[in-house]
Amino acid sequence: MHIGPLLGSGRTADVYALDGPWVLRRHRHGIDTTGELAVMSYLAASGFPVPRIGPPGEDALPTDLVVQRLEGPTLTEALLAGTVTEAAGADLLARLLRELHAIPPRLSQDPEDRILHLDLHPENVILAPEGAMVTDWLTAREGPACLDRAMTSLILAQVALDPSFTEGGHLRGLLAALLSRFAADGGVPADCLARATALRAEDPRLTAHETAALDEAAGLVASLTDPGAAHSRR
Ligand SMILES: Nc1ncnc2c1ncn2[C@@H]1O[C@H](COP(=O)(O)OP(=O)(O)O)[C@@H](O)[C@H]1O
Ligand SMILES: [Mg+2]
Repeated sequence: MHIGPLLGSGRTADVYALDGPWVLRRHRHGIDTTGELAVMSYLAASGFPVPRIGPPGEDALPTDLVVQRLEGPTLTEALLAGTVTEAAGADLLARLLRELHAIPPRLSQDPEDRILHLDLHPENVILAPEGAMVTDWLTAREGPACLDRAMTSLILAQVALDPSFTEGGHLRGLLAALLSRFAADGGVPADCLARATALRAEDPRLTAHETAALDEAAGLVASLTDPGAAHSRR
């Protein structure tokens, strides 16, 4: 396998160009990609926009995933560049979560459970010519849909409150718009927000500063949540 230039990096993985229409997503922390592969294949078969799985290289590591190369900015880049408005970004995130949660679970016997991404923020949405695609399924699991909405909201709130991020005001607008979209899908009930906050507090990838600011972030989500949505279906 001929590994080309680095195309992008997140908290856990580096993404390199490969020959042909593929990229190599390589975890830095020895994380196995078997779970991601299974969920991405299932979602692709269900018609959800995930990058196609490519052929594994001969010398592939267990931490490698070969996926379709997506051309186009991340939703973060498009929001910062102003090519996507806060309203359109909120519409897109809400739609992606709604479509994901319309798919029957792969493993769970609980009919209420859904496949959850649990890290579906604008950095993990790529605006490819064929449509918006969701990447980075490392954290995916199954559970109540409201947990996913709560996690996306919490992540946006955390970044909005981060003093080192100068565009926080825009993110607050995006978060408010998103929460208003979520209201029709069951909103972000307080118990789901509490579960998401506890889950995120366990995430070893967060810095000490981020962990310390979690309660404040949850408070921002709660303060922007439509109170009428708190008691509706999950
Ligand atoms: N299929 C892809 N094609 C092109 N670039 C990608 C692709 N997948 C991810 N990237 C880029 O690499 C970055 C990191 O990938 P991601 O899967 O989100 O890793 P992490 O788990 O570390 O966040 C993304 O934000 C994006 O810029
Ligand atoms: Mg990512």
